[in-house]
Amino acid sequence: MDSMGIKDILLYGEDVLRQPAEPVDPSDAQLKELVDRMIQVLQDAKGLGLAANQIGVPKQVIVYDTPEGPQALLNPKIVRREGKEVEIEGCLSIPGLQGEVHRATSITVEGLDLQGNTVRIKAEGLLARVFQHELDHLNGSLFVDHADPDTLQWVTEESSENKEQ
Ligand code: NI
Repeated sequence: MDSMGIKDILLYGEDVLRQPAEPVDPSDAQLKELVDRMIQVLQDAKGLGLAANQIGVPKQVIVYDTPEGPQALLNPKIVRREGKEVEIEGCLSIPGLQGEVHRATSITVEGLDLQGNTVRIKAEGLLARVFQHELDHLNGSLFVDHADPDTLQWVTEESSENKEQ
């Protein structure tokens, strides 16, 4: 049993998805367990990214997929946003729903790694979108809050695979 109240992916309607997440202390010994579990959940769901409150833990932790494997970021903040583009987005907490969301094209995000080192990541396109989506989660916001309502549609499991975050 874990002591953090980790759950499986929570769905739209759960209060913790609307709750702003708390910053974490990188020396917290439980963080490694939380991150390991988040990466497992992300991979099982074939998702692009996951925020800790999506598994019931209102802490500022995200994981995201990269070509080099899954990465974690603690207490992330977007410190630069440039450009604007629209793309279809989906969310593991609202499986099967997709819609168009405007996001910055290029961002810089700052946070801590599990060792407590400050990391600064420049991201564009899909990765920039994933960071913006996950940071929204940490603020209690969901993609449907800013999706173009006319574009929202339910899709099959197959076409939502590898698009949800
Ligand atoms: Ni999501």
